[in-house]
Amino acid sequence: MAMNYSEAVMDHFTNPRNVGEIENASGCGTVGNAVCGDIMRVYLDIDDDGIIQDAKFKTFGCGAAIATSSMATVLVKGKTVQQALEVTNKAVMEALDGLPPVKVHCSLLAEEAIHAALWDYAEKNGIMIEGLEKPVSDISEHDHGHDIDDEDED
Ligand code: FES
Repeated sequence: MAMNYSEAVMDHFTNPRNVGEIENASGCGTVGNAVCGDIMRVYLDIDDDGIIQDAKFKTFGCGAAIATSSMATVLVKGKTVQQALEVTNKAVMEALDGLPPVKVHCSLLAEEAIHAALWDYAEKNGIMIEGLEKPVSDISEHDHGHDIDDEDED
């Protein structure tokens, strides 16, 4: 089956930016998707002014997961932690000139991995980042809205 990937996606897949890890990172987050089995880890180096000086990632996943984590790390570098929250999966997809519909969840993994790293940074420093919600470790939980076998009481 042929899929239409943009040149930007192919570029970031074949030549991913910021692959690796940061020792003693200010924040590190790992998220996965139990449905496809892909896993993404993001490391952030954040200075005393809350500016993201460096971002790296390791992704065990599909080509779109690699391209979206590459682009997400490019986009958050040089931003404040608050601005980094604007690097949503939509922003990542736009920067990559789009993704095929079945690959949208890969960009969610990138957004959630950034959030998980920011959450770790906030926890380590005892601070709150306005607008940041506790990330889930398995984003496939997001995809299905409600759990049928779970209680639904308020
Ligand atoms: S197929 Fe699951 S992250 Fe790409």
